[in-house]
Amino acid sequence: MPRIARASTLEPMDKQALRLRQTLTVGLGARSYDIVIGTGLLADAAVFGTAAAAPSSAQALIVTNTTVGPLYADRLMQTLSQRHARVSALSLPDGESYKNWETLNLIFDDLLRKGADRKSVLYALGGGVVGDMAGFAAACYMRGIAFVQVPTTLLAQVDSSVGGKTAINHPLGKNMVGAFYQPRLVACDLETLNTLPARELSAGLAEVIKYGAIYDMAFMAWLEENLDALRALDPRALAHAVRRSCQIKAEVVTQDERESGLRAILNFGHTFGHAIEAGMGYGAWLHGEGVAAGMVMAAELSLEMGLTDDSAFAQRLRRLLARAGLPTRGPLIHPADNAGRYLELMRVDKKSEAGQIRFVLTGAAGRAIVCAAPDALVRRVIDRCCAAP
Ligand code: NAD
Ligand code: GLY
Repeated sequence: MPRIARASTLEPMDKQALRLRQTLTVGLGARSYDIVIGTGLLADAAVFGTAAAAPSSAQALIVTNTTVGPLYADRLMQTLSQRHARVSALSLPDGESYKNWETLNLIFDDLLRKGADRKSVLYALGGGVVGDMAGFAAACYMRGIAFVQVPTTLLAQVDSSVGGKTAINHPLGKNMVGAFYQPRLVACDLETLNTLPARELSAGLAEVIKYGAIYDMAFMAWLEENLDALRALDPRALAHAVRRSCQIKAEVVTQDERESGLRAILNFGHTFGHAIEAGMGYGAWLHGEGVAAGMVMAAELSLEMGLTDDSAFAQRLRRLLARAGLPTRGPLIHPADNAGRYLELMRVDKKSEAGQIRFVLTGAAGRAIVCAAPDALVRRVIDRCCAAP
């Protein structure tokens, strides 16, 4: 069920909203960019004027989808027309199952038909699916054109719009075809979350909780205090959660942009989670839902491996995820050999080396560790953590 207001009923930006506005920087030398977090951003041309994206005469192409477009594309088009000579929007079909070559080609078709050139700027307006695909299209078109992320889900605001990972899915593996390609700007308009379905808000909370679990136990404690406010879309709580999540992501990405080491910790829960998404068929489980169940499995595997004896951490994580409305058990993805199917899917993972799966696990008090695990232990955890409550 969609939550609260339609986009057209949102209040104009006021002084309080301005106070909530924050700018962070992802420091990557010549590829550095700002993340602006606040309200009223979609209607504020000054926000996009800071993009250093392109000359104001450049053509702007908004990539959105059939759900987000009707809510927000007109407003963004109006705003961008103050900066760009030509602005248009392309609406993609909505859903994880469309994150593929066919849909990516719709973007290239549109760019070519509209005569987009190297000075054109692509704006991704939507959740992580739109952002990942538009970013990949921007990375490839004419060998790279500027793009701006305008994320409209909590998950995209706290995670997928930041850091430059772009991709499409392959039937054999999640996000397996893509590129590292940084945006010129990320504009997180918190007001867009007012129309987000509750299930999608919960999915975003999974990634927020991930940052606490792997990086900042004080943030984890803050989440335990403020989870109800977040689920009620309290603007101050949301602003803090998005800001702290983006800060952590920016800190990690700044140190390891292309995931040669540290950045892998951001995949806590994702190895199991991606197997759930692919195993159930893309779109059946939301990305955040897979990550939630996956984080519990990773915490359990950490105990099984003896990396920690802190079973309280796994319990705490499970409780917080459940309060966020998220699954804490994985689904059965194969009727006869469930664990075997998980293992098969998890071997197709970008962290795998020579066919060996590498998991992000936790040591004492949320310290993340990346390592391999014996299949027998992984099987035991999957058997324990799947399906029946
Ligand atoms: P999504 O993009 O599918 O959006 C979820 C749903 O919400 C969609 O139906 C969408 O149309 C709708 N929606 C979006 N904004 C809305 C709004 N403001 N109001 C009403 N409806 C709205 O899913 P997501 O959770 O945003 O992103 C998941 C994707 O992100 C996955 O494909 C995942 O692999 C990817 N991801 C990428 C990274 C990265 O670093 N690039 C990180 C995490 C996840
Ligand atoms: N979402 C994981 C990453 O950006 O590295």
